[in-house]
Amino acid sequence: MITQKEFYQRRQKFAKKMADNSLAVFVSSKPKIRSNDTEYPYRQDSNFYYLTGFKEDNAALLFIKRNKKVKVVLFVEKKDPKMELWTGKRVGVKRAKKEFIVDAVQGSDTFCDTVLQNSDGIKCLYYDLKVEDTRIQELQKQLSPKLLSYKDGAKIAEAMRLIKSPAEIKLIKKALGITKKAHHRAMKLAQKLSYEYELQAEFEYIFTKKGAYSDAYTTIVASGDNANTLHYINNDKPLKSGEMILIDAGCEYEYYASDITRTIPKNGKFTKEQKELYEVVLDVQKKIINMMKPGVLRSDLQKESERLLCEAMVQLGILKGDVKKLLKKQKHKKYYPHGIGHYMGLDVHDQNPYKDKKGKEIPLQAGMVLTIEPGIYLPKDDKKIPKKYRGIGIRIEDNILVTKKGYKNLSSGIIKEVEDIEAYALSCS
Ligand code: GLY
Ligand code: MN
Ligand code: MN
Repeated sequence: MITQKEFYQRRQKFAKKMADNSLAVFVSSKPKIRSNDTEYPYRQDSNFYYLTGFKEDNAALLFIKRNKKVKVVLFVEKKDPKMELWTGKRVGVKRAKKEFIVDAVQGSDTFCDTVLQNSDGIKCLYYDLKVEDTRIQELQKQLSPKLLSYKDGAKIAEAMRLIKSPAEIKLIKKALGITKKAHHRAMKLAQKLSYEYELQAEFEYIFTKKGAYSDAYTTIVASGDNANTLHYINNDKPLKSGEMILIDAGCEYEYYASDITRTIPKNGKFTKEQKELYEVVLDVQKKIINMMKPGVLRSDLQKESERLLCEAMVQLGILKGDVKKLLKKQKHKKYYPHGIGHYMGLDVHDQNPYKDKKGKEIPLQAGMVLTIEPGIYLPKDDKKIPKKYRGIGIRIEDNILVTKKGYKNLSSGIIKEVEDIEAYALSCS
C-alpha cells in the first residue's frame, strides 16, 4: 500500500520542480463509454493517481506556487445520495479532508473558478499536455490572454515515476505473485484445454480471485503461428497438440502492473526444434538480464540482444551470411522486430523518460523496473526459414528491478527452464 504520507511527499517533490509564480493542474481520467450508456470499469489516470492516490472520477488537483510558497487543493465529486444510489458511495469533501494531506479539499464543480481566481500574476500553467479534457480546454480559453506559457506537468511526474519507492516495488511484487499463480496454472492446464480463450479465462479467474484490479493489458494467448502476430489478442483458435503457446499476461494490483511472457508446449513436452529455439531465447534473456546494473544503457542491452539473436539465427540456418553484415542490414529484425524491454510501473509501458532534457539516453539506475523480453518469431509462410522451425514464435519476459549492485529478477519464481516446464506439466497431467 502507498501511504498518504508518500503521496504527500510526491506532491512536495513535484512542487519543488515548479517555477515560482506558477500553477499546475492534473485531472482525473474520464469514464470511458463501452457502448450507449454502459461504461468500461473506471481506471484513474496514472499521473493523477501517482500524485493523489485518489481513485474516483470527476476529480482534480491544483498546485498554486506563489513567492516560493505552495498550496495544494484537491477537488472531488460532492456527495449526492441520488447519484450514489446508482453508482456507489463517494468519498466526498468532508472525508477527503480527513484522509488526504492537502491544504484544502473542494467540490469538483469549483475547480475551474478556483484556478482562475488564483491566476493573477501567474506566469505559467503546468498540465498534462497529452490529456484531452474539457476542463483543461476551458482553462486554456480563459487563461490564454494573461498567461506567458504552458508547460508539460506530466513530464515532471513521469520523471519522478522512473525510480520506484520500496512501497511501489512491494506492489509490483504482489502483482507478480498473482501473475505467477496464473502462469503456473496455465502450465498445469494447457494439456487439458482446447481453446486459447480457455487459457485466457484461467488468467482472469486467478487475477480476480486474488484481488487484482484487472489485467495490466489484454492477455495474449497465441498458439502456434499466432505467436508471430505480436499483439495477438483474439485468443479464439483451437489449441493443437505439438504446438507452442505464447502467453503474455500480467495483472494490475493496486494500480501497479506486472508483465510476464512464457511460451510452453501445448502437450507438456518440447519437440527437438522447439527446444532448440526456446533455449536460444532463454540464453539470450539470461545474458541480457546479467548485464543489468546502474550505468548500463538500455540501448546496449538492445544491441547485445540483437547481436546474440542474429548469431543464433545464423547458427540455426534461419539467416544466412556474415553476422556483422546481417546486423548492419538489420536482417535479424524480420524475426526479432521489437525492443528488449521497457519500464513498467503504474502503466505496463510506464510513461517514464528514456532520454534526459538534452536528449541524452538515461542509463539504468537503482530503483528502475524494466521488462526483459527477447523473442524469435518465425512465420509459417516464410519459405526462407528451415521448414522445421516455421510456425513457431517464442518470447520469454521477466520483470527486473535495477539495484545498487546489479539487479533483482522480481519474477524469478515463475518457472522457465525447459526441464522445469516439462516436469511441472508431467506432474499435473
Ligand atoms: N505485454 C506487453 C509487452 O510485453 O510489452
Ligand atoms: Mn513487456
Ligand atoms: Mn508482455
